Amino acid sequence: MAPLETAAATSEAVRKYGVLDMPDLEYTPELAKETAHAYDRISSVVPPVEWPAFAPYVKAINELKKERNAVILAHNYMTPEIFHCIADFVGDSLQLAVEASKVDAEIIVQCGVHFMAETSKLLSPEKTVLIPDMKAGCSLAAAITGADVRALREAYPGVPVVTYANCSADVKAECDVCCTSSNAVKIVESLNSPRVIFVPDQYLAKYVAKQTDVEIIAWKGQCEVHERFTAEDLRAAREAEAGLRIIAHPECPPDVLAEADFTGSTSGMINWVKDNRPSKVMMVTECSMSDNVAVETPGVEFIRPCNLCPYMKLITLPKILDSLVYMKEEIVIDPAVAERARHSVERMVELSK
Ligand code: 13P
Ligand code: SF4
Repeated sequence: MAPLETAAATSEAVRKYGVLDMPDLEYTPELAKETAHAYDRISSVVPPVEWPAFAPYVKAINELKKERNAVILAHNYMTPEIFHCIADFVGDSLQLAVEASKVDAEIIVQCGVHFMAETSKLLSPEKTVLIPDMKAGCSLAAAITGADVRALREAYPGVPVVTYANCSADVKAECDVCCTSSNAVKIVESLNSPRVIFVPDQYLAKYVAKQTDVEIIAWKGQCEVHERFTAEDLRAAREAEAGLRIIAHPECPPDVLAEADFTGSTSGMINWVKDNRPSKVMMVTECSMSDNVAVETPGVEFIRPCNLCPYMKLITLPKILDSLVYMKEEIVIDPAVAERARHSVERMVELSK
């Protein structure tokens, strides 16, 4: 049970928000007034007709997270009403992991996918870490198991193993160190080894291999969202849109990255748009991120290639409220696995400083 989940706190939260047709979740003129400032922030990307469905949840979540002493960590792929209206911290995988290690609250609600919530739990074992939907997985994380890493070690004795953070705690426990897309090259080179095994993303592995003399032995995983982009899509967009700048995530296949003007992690891409202020840009990555950046960069036109991550999109306002009302779904990691997996993540955070 969560430390704050006294019977009184729970029954009060359930009474207010946990039963059908609860008056506290109605969109009234008072609520419209109270939440107007939140809507103003996202009005350029969320039509007014959608706000009445979001506003009661935004208010309820913001109140309940304070009562619960909870913080909401949200990945850059969350939809704008989550990203801009209820999150306490937003960022890429590395930024969220670093934030989780220093968060000053009893409860973390992770608005992202399961491996991100596990990473938070590894770095904050004494905290209650909740994910609003346990089914929020990741095709990269599903592409490899701890047993696969053990087999790789047998096949390549003595070669260190780096894992992309998009994997289970079991896999992290079998590896020497983690990395994310924003520090992968640095981490690989920090091992001072002529050869490194890199799992599970074959495309990130190829991207790293291009930037280092270290020989990379890659696993066969890929992201089901980024693998769908093609170089042909990018060339067609350039032809159709004069002056278009194209930026891409390194989970894309190499021929796609070759067509891009810049490659970087989700936060790297956001910073590129903020720093360069192109008149027209296409972010070759999950679709919601363009909405989130558009809110902060008026004057930049976004050409959206709409590939949605089906796992990230399982996280919604009603499920986040449920998480806070019922303290679910709690991330629990076998202590023996957690200790070894934590070492991989902490080593990454240390090497990234
Ligand atoms: P970032 O670390 O760049 O945020 O990427 C995480 C991810 O899952 C991208 O698909
Ligand atoms: Fe995983 Fe791809 Fe979704 Fe990122 S976008 S969480 S890598 S499936």
